[in-house]
Amino acid sequence: MDVELLGRVLSTLPDDDDHPYRTGPWRPQTSEWKADDLTVVEGEIPADLDGIYLRNTENPVHPAIDRYHPFDGDGMVHVVGFRDGKAFYRNRFVKTDGLLAERESGGPLWAGIAERPEKAVRTDGWGARGRMKDASSTDVVVHAGVALTSFYQCGDLYRLDPLTLETLGKSEWNGSFPSCGVSAHTKSDENTGELLFFNYGKDAPYMHYGVVDAEDKLVHYTEVPLPGPRLPHDMAFTENYAILNDCPLFWDPELLKKGAHAARFYRDTPTRLGVIPRRGGSAEIKWFDADPTYVLHWVNAYEEGDEIVLDGFFQGDPEPRDTGDGSFYQRMFRFLALDRMQTRLHRWRLNMKTGQCREERLTDTITEFGVLNNLRGGRDYRYAYAATGVEGWFLFNGFVRHDLKTGAEERITLPDGVYGSEPAFAPRLGSKAEDDGYLVTLTTDMNEDHSECLIFDAARLADGPLARVRLPERISSGTHATWAPGSALPGWSTADSPATAAGL
Ligand SMILES: [Fe+2]
Repeated sequence: MDVELLGRVLSTLPDDDDHPYRTGPWRPQTSEWKADDLTVVEGEIPADLDGIYLRNTENPVHPAIDRYHPFDGDGMVHVVGFRDGKAFYRNRFVKTDGLLAERESGGPLWAGIAERPEKAVRTDGWGARGRMKDASSTDVVVHAGVALTSFYQCGDLYRLDPLTLETLGKSEWNGSFPSCGVSAHTKSDENTGELLFFNYGKDAPYMHYGVVDAEDKLVHYTEVPLPGPRLPHDMAFTENYAILNDCPLFWDPELLKKGAHAARFYRDTPTRLGVIPRRGGSAEIKWFDADPTYVLHWVNAYEEGDEIVLDGFFQGDPEPRDTGDGSFYQRMFRFLALDRMQTRLHRWRLNMKTGQCREERLTDTITEFGVLNNLRGGRDYRYAYAATGVEGWFLFNGFVRHDLKTGAEERITLPDGVYGSEPAFAPRLGSKAEDDGYLVTLTTDMNEDHSECLIFDAARLADGPLARVRLPERISSGTHATWAPGSALPGWSTADSPATAAGL
């Protein structure tokens, strides 16, 4: 392995930090590395694995003003690229306006999600709530050959070179980027090259939906009127429709009038699912009522006869009260654990003719953070790959391959003390079948104090990794990730090697 330390940031986190989401597997990194010809600890990197795995991370540089929430950390992106049976790695901070301003000030300037906005030093800021830092640490997708990172409560899309991870700027869409930003999850349709998105806020109409074309131009933007401010996180799409949601977990309207932001789950209020033609206006939205829940992440959707089939993770308890034992922060953030939210793969069937919604639980197994072969995005599909969680913690300890046609599940559990990231499916070069490819993830190994990139045969997860590739140092646990094939990356095919393309 050929490793170079590019630099370190000056962290002002305390040496005796006891926050459970800034220590242990969530210990943030201060270093930025580049490494070529990564050491393969076990197995072989498949020669037909060709492209990049990107993962975003909440990686705080400064303490919070008062209380750090695990979603507040500054964005750091990791990339592992594969070509010709070799791999390179790079990690870099997303150079957000907030990160640069706090670097100048040497401490926190904005109030996180677990803090009252009045705590913020600065009166400006980002987020549907306001006076937050757009840390761009939630999702990462690749659109028009550029990696885009996003903020979980509406903000900018930061543009990163997908290979060097250099921050190139922010999406501007020819001056038409929405003033209220873009939500955590945009959807990249690999079949059309389009990027679908929504945003939300405290002012009517409370939501917008839009489409950016393959040339990165905003080509559609419309209002999505809601009954009040909502907190949606994700959306879905089919070949002809986009699907938005109005889940009954939102800021208490009475407290909001007094300026307090307290998210509550309204157990007797239906979930509403809104179906809109991909280039349709607000008058064309069809709303469907469904059982009350909160859906953090959808997996996929597709059209089948008169119905739209929508798959996502139904939360059995979106507002868990059982906080268990442990430190103040352990109890405070236990609601983020998958077992507490009881997240299970669920299917909603929306009949466009009758307006009826039928729904069913697809499995008793608790998983979340589901991914698929992105070429099946919006199309009929069979396989979803999702993460399993450590009881009581926001940490992933394995993966399940859900066969949605048969209900069969295949599971891989990581060793105790080893935590994974959201996986991504990488189609094998020249693959024809949906599951003909690899599942890629990054680990945080607390036993060996290191990190690895694991590559599984997606059709044979239980066999364990085909290859384990060592990273330069132990990285923080993190969540959202994506795969981009080399063919979608500028300069990839013409460079002597992916490392050359990445400037290594
Ligand atoms: Fe998310």
